[in-house]
Amino acid sequence: MGLSLCLVVFHHLLLKLLLTNIVVANMSFASVQQQPTCRDKERSALLQLKESFVITKSASAFEGHVIGLDLSSSCLFGSINSNSTLFSLFHLQMLSLSDNHFNFSQIPAAIGQLCGLIYLDLSISFLYGQIPLEISNLTKLSFLDMSYNYDPVTEEKFLKLRNPNFETLLRKLTMLEILVLSYVDVSSKVPDALTNFTSLKELHLRDCELYGDFPAKIFRLPNLQSLNLELNENLTSLLPEFQKKSPLTRLE
Ligand SMILES: *[C@@H]1O[C@H](CO)[C@@H](O)[C@H](O)[C@H]1NC(C)=O
Ligand SMILES: *[C@@H]1O[C@H](CO)[C@@H](O)[C@H](O)[C@H]1NC(C)=O
Ligand SMILES: *[C@@H]1O[C@H](CO)[C@@H](O)[C@H](O)[C@H]1NC(C)=O
Ligand SMILES: *[C@@H]1O[C@H](CO)[C@@H](O)[C@H](O)[C@H]1NC(C)=O
Ligand SMILES: *[C@@H]1O[C@H](CO)[C@@H](O)[C@H](O)[C@H]1NC(C)=O
Ligand SMILES: *[C@@H]1O[C@H](CO)[C@@H](O)[C@H](O)[C@H]1NC(C)=O
Repeated sequence: MGLSLCLVVFHHLLLKLLLTNIVVANMSFASVQQQPTCRDKERSALLQLKESFVITKSASAFEGHVIGLDLSSSCLFGSINSNSTLFSLFHLQMLSLSDNHFNFSQIPAAIGQLCGLIYLDLSISFLYGQIPLEISNLTKLSFLDMSYNYDPVTEEKFLKLRNPNFETLLRKLTMLEILVLSYVDVSSKVPDALTNFTSLKELHLRDCELYGDFPAKIFRLPNLQSLNLELNENLTSLLPEFQKKSPLTRLE
């Protein structure tokens, strides 16, 4: 039973690594509440696809390190802390835990050990409490999403950014291209430091309880395509004159 469970989990992970963004049939996981059901035809298509290949080391250049783990929408339910073996996958560059239920756990500080991360998605996961300083150590991040950890009915925000605050969190994350903090209780001004984030393409800060003057220079960042500042009632700003060549195509 234990072994077959392991094999199913292994196959599940393998399929996910092979085929990103596909709902995988019949996954079993100790912490799964409900088995996701995949349409029969699609399930057998995936299984047939897998069976049409032999797994052989020489077929890939891959060194054997786990560099990406996509557990998004995997029906995971349970608490997580720094003791999780997840945080010993030191070579991870991509990690998505989006759309699971981590039972109001805090984001484990051990996340700071995964300092190779370029892509980190912790959205819609029922994570709770203060965002740990350790995230500011992930200096290679180009994608960071911690949005929608909230109660969709009451709109209570579960994640807070106080100590560290917004400015401290960002200090070393200067490679960011996409930053999504919608529905995080940020409760601060928008740091001027963001005007230096020249790689930034998307900034989503919907309902973050931001206040003060939004630094107008951010509108003029050379790569900024999408900016969302909705539902921050105490945030003020003068809209600059936009140049025709401005890359900004979406402004909310
Ligand atoms: C998953 O596979 C197991 C064993 O192959 C089977 O007993 C179970 O009914 C399947 N579950 C679903 C949801 O298809
Ligand atoms: C969820 O959290 C509660 C309260 O901390 C705990 O008692 C329970 O065991 C947790 N459930 C799981 C599956 O981790
Ligand atoms: C992690 O494990 C250690 C030793 O097994 C234990 O002392 C510690 O309380 C655990 N930490 C958490 C957050 O569960
Ligand atoms: C940040 O990473 C460095 C090593 O890269 C480590 O010494 C330091 O303790 C880490 N700090 C945090 C807050 O994780
Ligand atoms: C932007 O970066 C420059 C060079 O590192 C620095 O001198 C300046 O203080 C930064 N500006 C802001 C607003 O942080
Ligand atoms: C906006 O400011 C007013 C007045 O200071 C305050 O009562 C209100 O709670 C603030 N709203 C938010 C979302 O912070």
